[in-house]
Amino acid sequence: MKQTIYMDNAATTPVKAEVLKEMLPMFKDNFGNPSTIYKTGKDAREKVETARGQVANALGAEKSEIFFTSCGTESDNWAIKGVALEGLKNGKNHIITSKIEHHAVLHTTEFLEKHGFEVTYLNVDKNGLVNPEDVKNAITDKTCLVSIMYANNEIGTVQPVKEIGKICHEKHVVFHTDAVQAVGHIPINIKDQNIDLLSLSAHKFSGPKGTGALFIKKGIKIANFMHGGAQESKKRAGTENTAGIVGLGKAIEFACTDIESKSVELAKKRDKLIHELLKISHSRLNGDPIKRLPGNVNISFEGIEGESLLLFLDMAGICASSGSACTSGSLDPSHVLLAIGLPHEIAHGSLRLSLSEENTDEEIDYVIDQVKKIVERLRSMSPLWEKIIKKN
Ligand SMILES: Cc1ncc(COP(=O)(O)O)c(C=O)c1O
Repeated sequence: MKQTIYMDNAATTPVKAEVLKEMLPMFKDNFGNPSTIYKTGKDAREKVETARGQVANALGAEKSEIFFTSCGTESDNWAIKGVALEGLKNGKNHIITSKIEHHAVLHTTEFLEKHGFEVTYLNVDKNGLVNPEDVKNAITDKTCLVSIMYANNEIGTVQPVKEIGKICHEKHVVFHTDAVQAVGHIPINIKDQNIDLLSLSAHKFSGPKGTGALFIKKGIKIANFMHGGAQESKKRAGTENTAGIVGLGKAIEFACTDIESKSVELAKKRDKLIHELLKISHSRLNGDPIKRLPGNVNISFEGIEGESLLLFLDMAGICASSGSACTSGSLDPSHVLLAIGLPHEIAHGSLRLSLSEENTDEEIDYVIDQVKKIVERLRSMSPLWEKIIKKN
């Protein structure tokens, strides 16, 4: 067995060898600036355009609707601030989002609130689902944008994006979805799903870090976020991260080939993990059991601290997470787990395992065995667990 078992693919993924192979020449032979007119620059431009085509193809979009950015966070910021600024021109200053968005969305809407916008944060049900009727009821004549994530990074719940998009279109409101966790893992077609703007990030599907994209449907009015040169059809300034873009293109092509059968296979591994870990007493699955990312497992164990569990798992050679990687280091319970109604003490004892097709059956068995042992050990040392047992 490998020395380290990596089950934190929602935090980031290793770059695939085939992806790296495509990227490397961009640092040397194809180092040119795509904005220049001589051959070296034109060659680099060609590679960037091939990558744009790969992204467009994966989403069912037009090439002219894909804009490269520096990450998922930038794509979210651009989508939300860009549409908000356009909305203001027509006196529209209301945005609708959910309580379980990634901080790339929540901190952006909080920023806008400080600048005169009103934001509705929709509740989710106990599985983390947004009710499309709630979106409908929240829309007013001041609403310029609805931003609801495609799939949640912590609990893996996949939202009814198509229905939400349909409502937005009926009400003439722009619909953005943060699909950073979904792209490359489940099939997405922007037309079928009624999406106007979609954020993605290469490092979540075996591409490089520091490269993302924003899909902007033709005709959607959005202010620029990065100002400067004329790159990206004058919509996103800054010399292109050519190696990153080429890596993104190859990675998305790779991830989206046979995506349906790959996600079915991965879900089998996920379900085995869930089934076995739920045999541990006083445990519960977080997120929707069916409408769920194929690689996501999120389980709470009463009477333990998630952070201690992570430390012991690390000693056993297992990389996992107790919540979003972006919030680790903070002792506050996850806003997502609180939003689905978990009490603080249970939210604290949560474990997220996010799988990839690289995880073997042997690794799954080892992780099941280790989690069971570590939970038992931590509980045997926990005064909180004693109280729970006495109560029952
Ligand atoms: C749902 C979601 N949105 C946005 C981001 C931010 O993406 P990036 O790390 O590329 O900035 C993440 C990263 O974890 C995410 O999970």
